[in-house]
Order: sequence, then C-alpha cells, then structure tokens
Amino acid sequence: MARTQVAIIGAGPSGLLLSQLLHLHGVDSVVLERQNRAHVAGRIRAGVLEPGTVDLLLQAKVGERMLSERLIHDGFALGFAGKSFRVDLKGLTGDAVSVYGQTELTKDLTDARVEAGAKLLFEAGDVAIDGIDGAHPTVRYTHGGRSHELTCDFVAGCDGYHGVCRRSVPPAAMQNFERIYPFGWLGILADVPPVAHELIYSNHERGFALCSMRSLNRSRYYVQCGLDEKPEAWPDARFWDELRCRLPAPVAEAVTTGPSIEKSIAPLRSFVVEPLKFGRLFLVGDAAHIVPPTGAKGLNLAAADVRVLYQALVEYYRTGREELIERYSEQCLRRTWKAVRFSWWFTSLTHKFSDDPFNHRLQLAELDYLTGSAAALGSLAENYVGLPFEASAAAS
Ligand code: FAD
Ligand code: DHB
Repeated sequence: MARTQVAIIGAGPSGLLLSQLLHLHGVDSVVLERQNRAHVAGRIRAGVLEPGTVDLLLQAKVGERMLSERLIHDGFALGFAGKSFRVDLKGLTGDAVSVYGQTELTKDLTDARVEAGAKLLFEAGDVAIDGIDGAHPTVRYTHGGRSHELTCDFVAGCDGYHGVCRRSVPPAAMQNFERIYPFGWLGILADVPPVAHELIYSNHERGFALCSMRSLNRSRYYVQCGLDEKPEAWPDARFWDELRCRLPAPVAEAVTTGPSIEKSIAPLRSFVVEPLKFGRLFLVGDAAHIVPPTGAKGLNLAAADVRVLYQALVEYYRTGREELIERYSEQCLRRTWKAVRFSWWFTSLTHKFSDDPFNHRLQLAELDYLTGSAAALGSLAENYVGLPFEASAAAS
C-alpha cells in the first residue's frame, strides 16, 4: 500500500498551495484531484488577492509571475445614488490589494508542483476516506482504471464545497451554519480594457453591479441576477445594457463593450462548518466555508487556512508537538467568521433584497454615512485588505 505523510484531496488553490508549502519544508504529500488538469486550470473564479495572500505565495516560491503581472490597486470605488466614491485603501490602511486571477494562480501552483515532481494525480475518482480517528487514515481512490489505497498521517480536505471530505464526517460531529441569498451573480469575461483603473462596486435600485478586471485588456463584470436565471437568456447586448444601467452615468458612458469569452452564474451563499478538524482530517478553504463573493474573501480565506495548517504540520513533523494542530480549528474559525460577517455586510449594503424602497433608502443612508465617516471607512478598508494574522500563525 502506498504511503505519504499528508493526503490532500483537491487540487484547487488550497490543495496545491498546501502541498507546495509542505514540500518546501520537507513534508511529503499526495494530491488527489477529481477533474483533469485543463478543467482545473480553466475555472474562472476569484481575482483579488490580499497582501497576506501575496506574502504566502512568495513564501511558497510561486509568486514570481504574479509580482510581474499583477495590478496593484490602492483603492476601489463605491457607486451609489448616481455618483462614485473612492475608498482609499492605501491611505486608510497603508496596504493595497493585488488583482491576479485565480486561473493564473492555479496555473503557477500546478506548474511549480509538477516541476518539483509532486505526486499530483488528476482524474482520481471515487475518493473515500477511512480511519480519521486513528493514527493512520487511509484514502481509497481510482486512477487509470485501477483501485488504489494510500495510508497517511493526516488528510487535508481541500476539495471545495461539493467535496467528499466534509461528507465523510458523521453529521452529529459537526454543526453547519448557512445563509442562502435570494440572488446570484451573472459574470462575464471580455477582452476589452476595464472601464476604470480600480474596481467599482455599485449599488443600484435594479440590483448590484461590479466592474473588475484580470489585466489592462481583460475585463470581468458582474450583475446581480435571479437565482432561476440562465446565462443563455443573457446575450452580450442585454448584459452590457444592464451593467451600464446600474453604474453611475460617467462610468456607464466609459464602458468599452465587446464579445464575452465566458459567461456564467454563481449563486451566493454563506456557509461555515464547525469544527474544522475531525481526528486526523482537516477541512480547508471552500470545503470548510463559503462566503458571498462581494468582499473578495473566498480565495483569501482559503490561503489563510493553508497558512495556519502548513505551519501546524511542519511544527508537528519537526518537534512532535501537536499544540498548533489542535488549535487549527479555533484559529481559522476566528478569521473565517470575521470574513463571513464582512462579506455578509458588504453584500447587504450593495445588493437588492426586495422591491421595498425602504430597504434601498436604508442602504443609501448607510452608504452616505460610510463615505462621510473616517471611522466607518477605516473599518471597511481594513476588512477589505485583510485583517492581521495572529502572531503565531504569521511567523514563517
Ligand atoms: P476549490 O477551488 O473549489 O477547489 C477544490 C478542488 O477539489 C477542485 O479542483 C475540485 O475539482 C476538487 N474536488 C472536489 N471534490 C473532489 C473529490 N471528491 N475528489 C477529488 N477532488 C475533488 N472568490 C472570490 O474571492 N471572488 C470571486 O469572484 C469568486 N468567484 C467564484 C465563482 C464560483 C463559481 C465559485 C465556485 C467560487 C468563487 N469564489 C470566488 C470562491 C473562490 O474561488 C474559492 O474560495 C476558492 O476556489 C477556494 O479554493 P479551494 O481550493 O478551497 O476550493
Ligand atoms: C472579483 C470578484 C469579486 O468577488 C470581488 O469582490 C472582486 C473582484 C473578480 O472576479 O474580479
């Protein structure tokens, strides 16, 4: 039977980054991914990296291309009541965020892992986990038409919201917290210059809109849509019209339109499982928690979990001490719940929840207050760039 120290399920950003950091610290892992490499590389998802995530990528020695290709954003705009207001992240916090697509990040991580000769298996099917309560869990899976078994010391469940790891835990051992929002985001990618140098989050009585980007000639735009809507019902012309309608007029006039190269709808949800550790199984990233994308926190939270877990595992293999491992759940949940709160709050402030004009008036009043208060802006900015890490987890 094959053996490794850490069996990692899922080759999204969490799984790849964890395996890379463990490798750099002499800890062996095997990564099992259900999809093929092209599928994983092609998923269009997050785009904004907190400085803490950038630091971790540099620690993982996968930051070189990111440093040269990222766009550094010192601020973003809030659109509401026909105007734009710039939130000066740099001035308020001393920090900036980096725009670098998850697609590129995943490619950098995959390349680094493959180059290092990692045991990274794509198209690994029927993953099943046993024995997480003992010292040596086993992972069964199929690959290349054959069944395989892997023994390990720990399992890292990096397999996303729909993965198998969380479902391997007896329901009585965990508590789920969930909020489903009554809308989704319709997103498009288009090879046109972004409408502005920085992101614009726009509150409008017809619903939320976001202007984002992947590069100086690739734009990513989103509009809030109904949960039952289909991308096919949104030909490009309809999307561009709706987007412009929800932006302050000077911004709308400056939008460059063009054919979309990707169009998809994502539902919005908040979800947290507690705890994040069950015996020798850790849940990491989207397997453990989901936030609505409004605060751009999903990928950054996944990286924050990885930061805590790799340090705990490295400490364990170096010294045999389990204190950090035992603190994984509590430490990650503290950060997670703050990001869940921020993402919920930012979503509540910017999205249309009902036709009741009272709600919209309340949002406009809060936006008016926020943009006039240094204290409130400071709170928004410090959450957006990412809250500080606990000292013990921040040391490399
Ligand atoms: P994932 O990226 O989900 O990776 C999990 C991996 O596990 C996948 O490769 C999957 O194929 C694999 N897997 C699943 N089940 C199994 C199994 N049984 N066996 C083996 N492998 C398995 N965040 C933002 O900040 N901004 C955004 O705009 C944004 N947009 C998003 C849009 C969508 C449609 C989704 C789903 C998420 C979005 N997110 C966004 C969230 C962000 O992309 C995630 O937080 C991030 O991908 C988390 O990384 P992860 O590695 O934990 O999980
Ligand atoms: C993007 C997505 C977000 O959720 C966000 O808050 C900012 C940017 C993006 O996909 O570019």
